[in-house]
Amino acid sequence: MPTPKYNLSGKTVVITGATSGIGLAAATEFAQQEAFVIGVGRSEIRNQQAEHFILTKKPKGGVVYLQADLAQQEEVFELGRKINSTLSRNQLKHVDILINNAGVYQEKKHLTVDKIEMTFAVNHLAAFILTHELIPRLNSAESGRVITVSSKSHRNTPLNLERIANPWPYFGLLAYKGSKLCNILFTNELNRRCPLIEAYAVDPGLVKTAIASKGEPGISDWVWRMHSKKGTSPEVPVQTLFFLAGEKQIDKSKSHLFRDCQPLLPSRKATDMELGHKLWAHSCQLTGISWV
Ligand SMILES: NC(=O)c1ccc[n+]([C@@H]2O[C@H](COP(=O)([O-])OP(=O)(O)OC[C@H]3O[C@@H](n4cnc5c(N)ncnc54)[C@H](OP(=O)(O)O)[C@@H]3O)[C@@H](O)[C@H]2O)c1
Repeated sequence: MPTPKYNLSGKTVVITGATSGIGLAAATEFAQQEAFVIGVGRSEIRNQQAEHFILTKKPKGGVVYLQADLAQQEEVFELGRKINSTLSRNQLKHVDILINNAGVYQEKKHLTVDKIEMTFAVNHLAAFILTHELIPRLNSAESGRVITVSSKSHRNTPLNLERIANPWPYFGLLAYKGSKLCNILFTNELNRRCPLIEAYAVDPGLVKTAIASKGEPGISDWVWRMHSKKGTSPEVPVQTLFFLAGEKQIDKSKSHLFRDCQPLLPSRKATDMELGHKLWAHSCQLTGISWV
């Protein structure tokens, strides 16, 4: 599929998890299409490498990397402040597109400094906090958009909100699937609550990245390396991110979940309004955010 062409000149795009895989490919493509890119990564060195990589492809491109460990809530709030300062320094008023892409797969259970299971903290709560912190900047954009990278794996999974922050027993795959279901529930609830923006979720398909090989060595590293060989390159899902960022009139009558630039029906549970409402309230409680 050829990359759809949109003029993103003058648009500001924030991309989390922009140091590898889908996020790095997206940051590179958006910079090449003249957007001002604010990439977010947890490692200063990988941030510098990513920024350098993009500037070799697009010399003098508008790209800035900010460091934040999205597993730590205080750092996500601080990231919101850093993004606001970056906008002011560059005489920019709005965030046109926020791409909540950062994600982890944890074979073993880890609790964050906030005592929250890591997968849920990074894959859902960080997106919830960052979106909240940037809502005024998104609301004031001409057509503010929040795109959250979910997965086909949101299907066929239980979601126990009472236990999601500290699940017991812990199964890495169930934690991951639950977090990807939260991405779609969050997207649908965001559309209901924030009428000035458009929110979308993306199923990127199977993509050849190292996502499940980054924790401690284990069986999931091996399984993922075998399985992901059949995946596409990260540039393939970037086309959908690009479409959702640049297309003026998106037909969202069928779904807010997209794959290959086409709407895709999510699971029934992902469109359960009551569950979405409860997840929102629980996310507020866990982050201390008051967001009605
Ligand atoms: N690959 C697939 O087949 C697939 C399928 C469905 C959905 N997805 C989703 O696609 C998204 C991107 O994943 P990917 O496959 O491109 O994997 P990836 O290459 O591992 O990218 C994940 C990104 O998130 C960053 N990240 C992880 N933990 C972080 C933290 N605590 N703070 C800040 N950044 C953090 C990583 O940083 P480092 O570079 O420092 O590790 C990396 O930049 C994820 O949301 C994933 O769930 C992927």
